[in-house]
Amino acid sequence: MSLQNMKQPDKVQAHLSAYLSDRAVCSMDEFIQHGTTTTLEHCLSVVSASCAIAEHLHLRINYKNLIVGALLHDFYLYDWHTHQDEGTLHGFAHPRIACRNAAMRFHISPEVQHIIRTHMWPLTLRFVPRSREAIIVCLADKYCSTLETVSGFWRHAKTLGRKRRV
Ligand SMILES: [Fe+2]
Ligand SMILES: [Fe+2]
Repeated sequence: MSLQNMKQPDKVQAHLSAYLSDRAVCSMDEFIQHGTTTTLEHCLSVVSASCAIAEHLHLRINYKNLIVGALLHDFYLYDWHTHQDEGTLHGFAHPRIACRNAAMRFHISPEVQHIIRTHMWPLTLRFVPRSREAIIVCLADKYCSTLETVSGFWRHAKTLGRKRRV
């Protein structure tokens, strides 16, 4: 899903531009999220999917919060495949870490913090998404993660098949 498919790509881009020029945000492109997808690519897909869901359902949404929350929802800034986090599994710990990083770097609003903190629900049982924006990002994240993981497996299987034939 690309930003060009959005009804108002310029508006989306305007909310993103300040963040996409930030060094720490760009560094998310150095870490693999699922399959061959980097964390930055994943976050941009979640931005697009979140906007698409909001547009499709004609919901009254704070687009700035939605876009910033979606972009920074995985702003934990490490490779989760190799990172050791004081005995806590990445899936449980990273919303808190991403939220802390985003709050320290960008002074984001409590609404955006809520989006980031709750995006892994129901895994993070006590952190339930309670705003429309948080529910949308939570759904969009699961949709994008599933696609990225499946396409990663598919690519891996095709590579293995090609190697066997050689
Ligand atoms: Fe996440
Ligand atoms: Fe995510």
